[in-house]
Amino acid sequence: MTPGVQPIRVAVLGAGTVGAEVADRLLTRAAEFESRVGAPLVLAGVAVRDLDAPRTPALPRELLTTDAESLVLGAHIVVELIGGVDRARELVLLALESGADVVTGNKALLATHGPELFAAAERVGAQLNYEASVGGAIPIIRPLRDSLAGDDVQRILGIVNGTTNFVLDRMDAHGDSFEDALATATELGYAEADPTGDVSGLDAAHKAAILAGLAFHTTVPLSSVPVEGIERVTAEQVAAGRGTGHVVKLLAICERLTGPDGVEGVSARVHPALLPRDHPLASVRGANNAIFVQASDARDLMFYGAGAGGPETSSAVLGDLVAAARRHVIGGPGLAAAPSSGLPVLDPGVVSSRYQISLVVRDEPGVLAAVAGLVADLGVSIETAQQTRSGVGGTATLVIGTHRAPEAALAAVVRALSGAAEVEQVAGVLRVEGDRPKDG
Ligand code: HSE
Repeated sequence: MTPGVQPIRVAVLGAGTVGAEVADRLLTRAAEFESRVGAPLVLAGVAVRDLDAPRTPALPRELLTTDAESLVLGAHIVVELIGGVDRARELVLLALESGADVVTGNKALLATHGPELFAAAERVGAQLNYEASVGGAIPIIRPLRDSLAGDDVQRILGIVNGTTNFVLDRMDAHGDSFEDALATATELGYAEADPTGDVSGLDAAHKAAILAGLAFHTTVPLSSVPVEGIERVTAEQVAAGRGTGHVVKLLAICERLTGPDGVEGVSARVHPALLPRDHPLASVRGANNAIFVQASDARDLMFYGAGAGGPETSSAVLGDLVAAARRHVIGGPGLAAAPSSGLPVLDPGVVSSRYQISLVVRDEPGVLAAVAGLVADLGVSIETAQQTRSGVGGTATLVIGTHRAPEAALAAVVRALSGAAEVEQVAGVLRVEGDRPKDG
């Protein structure tokens, strides 16, 4: 140890999949971390709920404690990996208010209490690093916060949930139903025992709120992010997408846009969407994640990799930890990531999209004209129409692709079609994203 250099005490809160890996690496790679930081990183302890729970990798019993508060108060850097919101918030605030830096991978915490936590960090000049909160191992927070700080990010399309990408990929590659694909994901350990937060899109919405706030230098509350999950995506929709050269993906979409009244603002939303098969995100298979960023000067960038997993996510956590520790050695206040642009979140109705609408219609003269007339009356333009005869009870399946139109107008079209006499059933509605060259 360099003479005069004080060890940096690190507290790890939580010894789950990621916490146990982080603690293990702090113990087994101590010499590397010391040479990178310029001071030893000492694992002061690991706060757990149950001292006897089995954990992988195993950790020395004497490092485990159930007294998280005392551990936090004796640490220079606190690594929060307990998940959940309320207890995590208490402990992170305690850490920041005591002057410790915090590293967290807790997207739910940041998406719901981000402004309060950043304000607390700024008050005491502490750092709050959160690379692991979006995209697991993928570096995306630091690129948005630092590398792109001199550019104008216009749009982000992200595959930020591995469970749903695995399920949709399975539906695409094997023709599985949603239920069968999810059962496979559970069997293979990709989906959690309770996958509700993943399939409902909530996990991706947390990440969309974090990405949009960071990319557009503003505050994007979770409550302003419209969310649609993948539970209602059918094997037929995936097959129809295949037929038109698309693949269905659950996307987190963050955009900078101008509303109809000329007001500049931002939007963040999560929903399944059809992507052209030649879009870079279409090649993201299995449980992988990728974030496609479009900026004025940098143009198109894609960040790709493992979005979850203990060792993978520990890489992002340890990167944040080394960065925080270096500042301890060098001195100076933490970097505040304060919102500065003040851009408002716009009403979701002003966002413009393209829809692909699958209809079961009566196969009779005038039906196509009636459907086209109804869509036109609501100010929406049809780009493609494809009819296949089903032969069942004289019905046909009509797949209509629209040009871009405000979400509110497209929702009105779907409502009108649902009530139209010529339409037996609106079998499915998917937005189409990533069209090029406009979007690419
Ligand atoms: N459950 C998430 C996923 C990983 O399936 O991607 C953590 O956010």
